[in-house]
Amino acid sequence: MARVQSADPGSRVLPMSQLPRVVVLATGGTIAGASANPASSARYQAATVPVTTLLAAVPALQAVARIEAEQVAQVDSKDLVYSLWSVLAARVQHWSTQPDVAGIVITHGTDTLEETAIFLHLTQACPVPVVLTAAMRPSTSLSADGPLNLLDAVRVAAHPEARGKGVLVVLNQQIHAARDVAKAHTSVVDAFVSPSYGPLGFVQDELVHIARAPVQARKAVLPVPQQWPDVEIIASYAQPGRVAVDAMVAAGVRGLVVAAAGNGSVHEALIAALKDAASAGVAVVRSSRTGAGHVAIPPVADPVGGVFVSAADLNPYKARVLLLLALAQDPGLALAPDRLQALFAAAG
Ligand code: SIN
Repeated sequence: MARVQSADPGSRVLPMSQLPRVVVLATGGTIAGASANPASSARYQAATVPVTTLLAAVPALQAVARIEAEQVAQVDSKDLVYSLWSVLAARVQHWSTQPDVAGIVITHGTDTLEETAIFLHLTQACPVPVVLTAAMRPSTSLSADGPLNLLDAVRVAAHPEARGKGVLVVLNQQIHAARDVAKAHTSVVDAFVSPSYGPLGFVQDELVHIARAPVQARKAVLPVPQQWPDVEIIASYAQPGRVAVDAMVAAGVRGLVVAAAGNGSVHEALIAALKDAASAGVAVVRSSRTGAGHVAIPPVADPVGGVFVSAADLNPYKARVLLLLALAQDPGLALAPDRLQALFAAAG
C-alpha cells in the first residue's frame, strides 16, 4: 500500500496544519480509469491510474484537508471479492480509530459500489464519516466526473455534520445513505439514486448540506466473516424452472435471496422449490426486483408466510450482503426465520 502525503497547494484559507486529516483508500474503478481517447467515455481501461495521480489532479483538495492515501487495491469492481472487503474493513477500522483522523474516503468502481457500501455500513461502527465515491467517466475523459466527486467526498468526510450518519456515498454533488443508494443507469453521470427515500443532502462548492439523517444508520453492526457462507440470488419471472434452486441446494448453498416481482411476489412454481430449499435448511429471503419500496411481511397463513423472510427495503444485492453476514455470524439463523426476520427489520 503506497502512502502519500499531499503536496503544497494553491489557494487555501487555513494553514495546512489546521486542516482536518482525511484518509483516502483507493480501490480502482472507472474513477481510476484511463483511455487513449479523451472523447470516449465508454472505451477505457478501469483501475489503472494510481491514487497519487488522482489526488494530484485536484489541487483544490489542498484547501480542504490534509490528505493521506493508500492504494488498497486496483480492481474493476465487477470482479469484487470478499478478501477485498476484509482488507477494506481492516483499513477503515485502523484509520477511524486514529485520534486525529476526521474522516475516510474510499474510491471504488460504480458497478458494485452499493454492495461495498452496505457491507461497510453493516460492519463498521464509523466513529468518523466513511464516504465512498466513484466516477462514471474515466479520469482521462473530457469532462471527467471523478475529480469533483473526489473533492466533494473529501469535503463531506471532513465535515462535522457527516458524523453519526453511517456510511455515506457521494457522487454527482449528492450525498446518499449507503443502505439506500443504488446504481440505476449504465452510463450517465447521475447514475446513482436512493430510489425509496431520496438522497440525504448535497454538496455545492464549500457547502455540505445534510437535510435528513438515516434513522437506521447504526442498528446492526455485524462482524466481518472469517468464513463466508454461499449465498446466491435468483429471480422470479414468467414460468420459472426449479432447476437452478435445486442445483444450488444440492451444491450446499446456505442462503437464497429471491428477486421477486412487485411486493415480494414469487411464482408458485418457484415457491414449491424454495419451500423444499427451506426444508433442507436454506435461508430464503424475498426482496423485490422493482428497485424501490418495502417488501411486506405476509401473515403466517400466506403460502410464503413464516417460511420466507422479507428483505424489507433492501434490494436483492444489499439483502444478499446482510444475509451473508448474518449466516456467517450465526448459521442457525437459516432454521429460525423469525430471528432472521427481526435482523432484516432492524437493518432495513
Ligand atoms: C468498476 O465498477 O470498477 C468499473 C465501472 C465504473 O467504475 O463505473
